[in-house]
Amino acid sequence: MDAAALLLLAAAVWEPSATVRLLDEAKKITFNLTVKQLVSIEPGPWTESLRREYVKLIDGFFSIPFPLAYLLPFTTYGQALKARKKVAGALREVIKKRMEEKAENGGSIGDDEGKKEKKDMVEELLEAEGGSFSEEEMVDFCLSLLVAGYETTSVLMTLAVKFLTETPAALAELKEEHANIRDMKGENQPLEWSDYKSMPFTQCVINETLRVGNIISGVFRRANTDIHYKDYTIPKGCKIFASFRGVHLNSEHYENARTFNPWRWQISDKLQNAVGANIFTPFGGGPRLCPGYELARVVVSIFLHHLVTRFSWEETEEDKLVFFPTTRTLKGYPINLRLLSESIC
Ligand SMILES: *[C@@H]1O[C@H](CO)[C@@H](O)[C@H](O)[C@H]1NC(C)=O
Ligand SMILES: *[C@@H]1O[C@H](CO)[C@@H](O)[C@H](O)[C@H]1NC(C)=O
Repeated sequence: MDAAALLLLAAAVWEPSATVRLLDEAKKITFNLTVKQLVSIEPGPWTESLRREYVKLIDGFFSIPFPLAYLLPFTTYGQALKARKKVAGALREVIKKRMEEKAENGGSIGDDEGKKEKKDMVEELLEAEGGSFSEEEMVDFCLSLLVAGYETTSVLMTLAVKFLTETPAALAELKEEHANIRDMKGENQPLEWSDYKSMPFTQCVINETLRVGNIISGVFRRANTDIHYKDYTIPKGCKIFASFRGVHLNSEHYENARTFNPWRWQISDKLQNAVGANIFTPFGGGPRLCPGYELARVVVSIFLHHLVTRFSWEETEEDKLVFFPTTRTLKGYPINLRLLSESIC
């Protein structure tokens, strides 16, 4: 992860002094990383063409699903349906090939039998208990996980940078934390798990970004039985929208709830138990807790590490948060980036 993030940050698009839309760059990074996690394909033309189709598919998420849209390829929804077919087709080819490889190897994957760690998501699915996933189910799995890993994590990265830029004291403290880690390691030594574990302030920044940003604003649920809550009854069969934003920005739970204040996570015992108390659920909860919650934290932490130790930046235009239909910034957060002179990229 560290090597990949570094490589991506050093990519030629980030000229020594360049204006970029951070959200776009973050999306390229997370897309490349997610594809690698899912199917072990290194960034290249295949990933790039997949990404182009993928963008169309995402555009269709919040468009009007005209009946017979598939006959109307000029509508956003029609385009999205077409794009889904292409993305699914590309993934299906990869999965097919991997299934064939597995069959040739007499049902086992590769020569390192008995190893514990799976190399990617496809392997995880191929080796699933009972091996009962169909090809189509695996394709669908990979497609969904691509959305989950790609869209949300890139928004989280962008919002963290925006909030930090607007809160100079927090940015300064974060820089210090990462400069210390850098100083303790030799030049260009990759980050390790122990380094990730010594970024306590970074974790506060990430929690606070999740709380204020509300990248997933809530979830839909259906009542399986009559549910009594306070003076209300939610009748069986009703669909409800559980608003995370409503809880995360509630001043009963968080003082000055709308202010970005990462330090609140340092001092509050109550917040250490925020998950148990159901007042902090950025990744959902229960059996449907987001399986990628730790991965997202790692990716964002490493991204922030390289960003603050190697670059300085300033906003080039004012940009603001919007929440509908999805959380993002209106202009994709345009910033001017400068490589810090002493850093070696
Ligand atoms: C992601 O991979 C593509 C190739 O698939 C590459 O062109 C692009 O530069 C990579 N993204 C970043 C941010 O490096
Ligand atoms: C951040 O939130 C997680 C729950 O998602 C919690 O376990 C952790 O203690 C919080 N971190 C800090 C520094 O408070």
